[in-house]
Parts: sequence; structure tokens; C-alpha cells
Amino acid sequence: MLTILADTRACKESAGQMAVVRNLAARNHLHTAGPVSRYKRGMHFYEPSKGHGLPHDPFNAIVGPRPIGWISSLGPDGVANLAPYSFFNGFNYHPPIIGFASIGYKDSVRNIEASGEFAWSLVTRPLAEAMNASSAMVPASVDEFTLAAVTPAASTLIKAPRVAQSPVSFECRLSQIVQLQSAAGDKIDTWLVLGEVVGVHIAPWTLVDGVYDTAAADPVLRGGGPADYFGITAQQRFRMKRPT
Ligand SMILES: Cc1cc2nc3c(=O)[nH]c(=O)nc-3n(C[C@H](O)[C@H](O)[C@H](O)COP(=O)(O)O)c2cc1C
Repeated sequence: MLTILADTRACKESAGQMAVVRNLAARNHLHTAGPVSRYKRGMHFYEPSKGHGLPHDPFNAIVGPRPIGWISSLGPDGVANLAPYSFFNGFNYHPPIIGFASIGYKDSVRNIEASGEFAWSLVTRPLAEAMNASSAMVPASVDEFTLAAVTPAASTLIKAPRVAQSPVSFECRLSQIVQLQSAAGDKIDTWLVLGEVVGVHIAPWTLVDGVYDTAAADPVLRGGGPADYFGITAQQRFRMKRPT
């Protein structure tokens, strides 16, 4: 009896979800008729701990596109380190705080924990290939600015250099390193590095009447899969104010 009730509720929920999908599709002028692939029959539900059951893990493609944290730091030996991190975002306005997650305790985390500072530089379309080159798994003794053929520019408040070719850079002081844990409380070998932005460099051409123009800067965003990236254009912008 309980199973029947649960099944009935699941059917109702599923029907409700399909109605939402149809409504959204209609609103977005999408086609819902025609042959239905096995992935389109109802909602695909999975528990990540048991596998996603799809040809590719959709997580990165769903939580995307993501801005890229192009992080530079200085090693104890003075060698500059540069690496991209797409588990990256801003977390606070005042003071501004940014953070990235290192899956494994990588050189960037080691350097930042030791030096207490790092810089972030915006990856733009002309810098995409250099950003990618800087992700190579190389020993800490290799200067990734040289590897990626970009120029280190001296920062104003911190010792770690920023990328001279990038139109926007933040100078950051380490505020926290948090080791992530699962819902069960098990420690994960992933390290969330958070830093307060103490200095900001902005190229004047990204400012239109003094307002930073996100699309004009031509940022590169990371999508899913092994190789997907996105750009943005002014045409994709729409405006919506918060309810008062
Ligand atoms: C676009 C892009 C995004 C990446 N995002 C991450 C990330 O969020 N976390 C991570 O641990 N590695 C990420 N990587 C891989 C690191 O960049 C790579 O492991 C690098 O060698 C780390 O350098 P480091 O040891 O000098 O810090 C990313 C690579 C690319 C190309």
C-alpha cells in the first residue's frame, strides 16, 4: 500500500515536473514533440555517489559557465606560479573576497599558505591559450609565466606578480584556507582558498563612462566536458531589478 502511495506521488510529481518542463519549453519556443530519447523520458535523477548514468558527468556543464580564477603566487624560492582554477568565484562585497578550490593540495595552495598572498588576473579571449598552457602539471621549480609566455607585472601591495597582458587583476591577502568535507563529515582532499582583495587594477578601455563593462573585457568562462569554454556578448545581456 505504502509503495502504491509512493508510486502515485512519484507519478504526480513526475507529471508536475513534466508540465513545468513543457511550460518552460513553450515559453522558450522549444520543441517537446517528436521521438523521445531515453535521456528525455521524465527527469533523469541520480545520486552522485552511485554514478551519473550519463555518457559524461554533467556537473561541470550544469554549474557553468564559470569564471576562471587565474591565480598567481610566489614560491618560497621566489619562483612565480600561475594556474587556472574554475572552481572560482567572488563571495563577499565589503571587504571583497574571492576564492578558488584546489582539488588536491596543489602548488598554488602551498605557496599561498606559506606567503599569505596571491593575485588573480582576468582571462580574456586573447589570453585563453596562455591560460590553458599555464595549467600544465609541471614541477614547482618551473615559472608558469614563462611557460605560458605571459609577462609578470609587479603588484603594488603584494609580492606575487599579476599577468601584465590581463586588463583586470586583483591583489589578494589570504583570509582562510578551508579543507572541504562531505555531508558525513569526512575530510576531502580539496582546499578552498579565500582571499581579501586589497588592490584592484583595471585597464581604462574596460570602463565605459567609468562603468566596468563586463562584455567589453571579453572574459573566458569554463563550461563542462574536457574542452568547453564560453564567451559573452553585450547582446546576451538583459536587465532585471530586484523586487523592492
Ligand atoms: C580552465 C581550467 C580550470 C581548472 N580548474 C581547476 C580547479 O577549479 N581546481 C583544480 O584543482 N584544478 C583546476 N584546473 C587544473 C589546474 O590548473 C592544474 O592542476 C594546475 O597544474 C595547478 O597548478 P599549481 O599546482 O601550480 O597550482 C583547471 C585547469 C583548467 C585548464
